[in-house]
Amino acid sequence: MKKEYILVLDYGSQYNQLIVRRIRELNVYSKLVHHDVDIKLLKNDPLLKGIILSGGPNSVYEDNAFTIDEEIFNLGIPVLGICYGMQLICHKLGGKVIPGTIKEFGKTDIEVETDSMLFNGTIQHQLTWMSHTDKVVSIPEGFKKIAFSLNTEYVGIENDEKMMYGIQFHPEVTHTEYGMKIIQNFIDKCAIEDKWEMANIVDDLIVNIRDEVNDDHVLCALSGGVDSSVVAYLLAKAIGSKLTCVFVDHGLLRKDEAKQVIELFKDLDVEFILAEESNLFFKKLRGVCDPERKRKIIGATFIEVFDNISSKLDNIKYLAQGTIYADVIESGTKTAQTIKSHHNVGGLPANMQFKLIEPLRELFKDEVRNLGRALGMPEHIINRQPFPGPGLAIRILNDVTNEKAMLLQDVDAIVREEIERDENNHGAWQYFAVLTGAKSVGVIGDMRNYGEVVAIRAVSSIDGMSADFCRIDYDTLANMATRIINEVPGVARVVYDITSKPPGTIEWE
Ligand code: XMP
Repeated sequence: MKKEYILVLDYGSQYNQLIVRRIRELNVYSKLVHHDVDIKLLKNDPLLKGIILSGGPNSVYEDNAFTIDEEIFNLGIPVLGICYGMQLICHKLGGKVIPGTIKEFGKTDIEVETDSMLFNGTIQHQLTWMSHTDKVVSIPEGFKKIAFSLNTEYVGIENDEKMMYGIQFHPEVTHTEYGMKIIQNFIDKCAIEDKWEMANIVDDLIVNIRDEVNDDHVLCALSGGVDSSVVAYLLAKAIGSKLTCVFVDHGLLRKDEAKQVIELFKDLDVEFILAEESNLFFKKLRGVCDPERKRKIIGATFIEVFDNISSKLDNIKYLAQGTIYADVIESGTKTAQTIKSHHNVGGLPANMQFKLIEPLRELFKDEVRNLGRALGMPEHIINRQPFPGPGLAIRILNDVTNEKAMLLQDVDAIVREEIERDENNHGAWQYFAVLTGAKSVGVIGDMRNYGEVVAIRAVSSIDGMSADFCRIDYDTLANMATRIINEVPGVARVVYDITSKPPGTIEWE
């Protein structure tokens, strides 16, 4: 993205993506990169206007602790260290960090200098969110203290002349009372003029796509979910006749989904191909129980289908996908662990003949929805709930068969109907059913009913990166359970999943 920006160096804290989000919420572009980024790239980047060193789980004084190229401090742009980042600044520039005896975790009162750059416009006593044991006990020359707490002498430091700042707490966490104001103050110091707003991001994205694609043609993998639909609309606008959308029915879609997707795209003036490939997918998945293997097989089979289709078309060089920032991060960066191989990122085969084009790679889910609005997409497409590329395969625990998929489709349709009917659905952002693979005994009429255990999952979330289970009314849950057992033969029991993310994930596999 060609915009002035603030770079966040990733030292491994669980809050890192949040820092990026907050900056973007304040209409400035920001991105997260591994902390050992090449200093030469930074030196030659006129758009780089500020750097934030994130928090992290290490101790700066340990061997092998994540470190920093000190030249970053001499780039002449503002630098803010958060938690580990502040300790690193002190450690590197002649201050001292020691293991603390008292862990400061959670809401913590601090006292600040309100005339300092960072705390300007806030109040003297304020609440912050802390998560540290190590602490700074002496600060480098040229720095002064701008905040402290009962247990920690240096909670905020600054060297205004060198435009270097540090805070021990997390301004990105909503519990920090003046977090947004503090981030805004830092942004102001970075003197950024470019605005991160969807309306002008659309134009940038379109220019980027046109530059990249030139006279070649693009195959767009359309799942009917929000992300790939936005990509299709964006590409339609950018390259129109050079676009072919392919919608693969792998047999693991939601009930009647293929029909609905065809309906959704009938008004978009691009070539649309429906590939009915359920037999192929079920054959490849036969007997496979391991979640990661399922994901990889599905990724590879998608590519096989796209290869086949493109070999019959002219000049297709690119495959466009709706990969978003959460997919990229959750498929494992150098600092974050692989939680799941998202089929459109980690699950792709190495020998693919397409070049990938992923225009949403840097956007969070809610930003993607806003982009859809800026593109003039109908609300009912934008508001579709997310649906994973591997589809019901990752909601059918153990091996996947056509019969299980059909049973789950029926259960899932009831879950969706009942939640959508309930006005009091507690912000359900994603809601579906899972075939748990367990079996249980029940009784229907006077007959023994030995059948499947299905689970209902309903979560609230903003971007899928974290989620809470919805406090759905018992009456709605009861309705769902009764309808599922009465209407779907083969189900004996219904349970409700009350796990948040973290520690759970939204999908079961
Ligand atoms: P998890 O289960 O990782 O899911 O908490 C977070 C969000 O991502 C969706 N998801 C996927 N989307 N390909 C996708 O396109 C995938 O492989 C995939 N796995 C999970 C999930 O539905 C939720 O919205």
